[in-house]
Amino acid sequence: MELVHVAVVVLSLLSAGQSSPVTSCESLTQPLDFQGRDQLLGRWTYLGESTDMLGTRALTKMFMETSWLNFTAGDNSDTINTFQSQKMLGLCFSVSYKHTLKNNTLSMVQPYSGSGILLNTGCPDCLVLYSNYTIGQSSYKVLQLLSKRAKVSAAELEEFKKQAECLSLSSPVFLDSEKGFCSDESVSQQKTIDLSDTMNNITSDQLSQLDKILRSQGGVKTLMEMLTSAVGQINPN
Ligand SMILES: *[C@@H]1O[C@H](CO)[C@@H](O)[C@H](O)[C@H]1NC(C)=O
Ligand SMILES: *[C@@H]1O[C@H](CO)[C@@H](O)[C@H](O)[C@H]1NC(C)=O
Ligand SMILES: *[C@@H]1O[C@H](CO)[C@@H](O)[C@H](O)[C@H]1NC(C)=O
Ligand SMILES: *[C@@H]1O[C@H](CO)[C@@H](O)[C@H](O)[C@H]1NC(C)=O
Repeated sequence: MELVHVAVVVLSLLSAGQSSPVTSCESLTQPLDFQGRDQLLGRWTYLGESTDMLGTRALTKMFMETSWLNFTAGDNSDTINTFQSQKMLGLCFSVSYKHTLKNNTLSMVQPYSGSGILLNTGCPDCLVLYSNYTIGQSSYKVLQLLSKRAKVSAAELEEFKKQAECLSLSSPVFLDSEKGFCSDESVSQQKTIDLSDTMNNITSDQLSQLDKILRSQGGVKTLMEMLTSAVGQINPN
């Protein structure tokens, strides 16, 4: 009989051992329920992203320094006004758009349509959003790490990296808080360039064009050149 007890204990330890690590793909790709709109409101630091868009990793790495978002309650109980601040090449940009939280899905229609779900995370004040964006004829997957903190631990970054791996996405780009945020006194002396009108007026033709560029050979290089030249015009130094 003792043998049976031992066997039962061993089995239960084994199964506990199988379900406990937060590093298993099964648990890291587990969707979580949104706890309602209030869970999202406030300021979040955009800490990392991973996508299945070829080459965009290099773009993000090269142009994005830091970014944060402010979610505020919209007019309806399920709408959210999103303000996103981005520091790119030492310049401050912002864009305002709307999200809807419905049926456990966070969606947007402008500047392009996308819908995301929340994934499991061991980080207590993080959101891991896994979204689908439609640009032109393509749909792209994006995994994003947001936190209430300006910085998270190495273990938390590692977990996100593993999540991206589990979903067969690119290795994440992590944004470096040390580069300063556009809300910081030192940085925000500079005027912020509001891209909302430009972004929200973007036409489906322009999105299709962007999609073609993204999918073409050398397309990302073309985009980099376009961006560099655009930034050069804004900040001619
Ligand atoms: C977020 O937006 C709300 C409403 O406009 C504002 O009161 C709050 O100060 C903003 N928070 C940050 C961090 O900008
Ligand atoms: C709600 O989400 C579920 C699961 O993603 C989906 O099957 C269902 O069609 C959605 N319902 C509506 C009304 O969008
Ligand atoms: C993204 O869209 C595809 C096709 O529309 C769908 O199969 C997939 O479940 C979606 N993924 C997410 C994370 O919403
Ligand atoms: C965007 O559209 C709005 C209204 O449709 C218009 O008032 C505004 O001038 C447009 N902005 C740009 C930059 O085209």
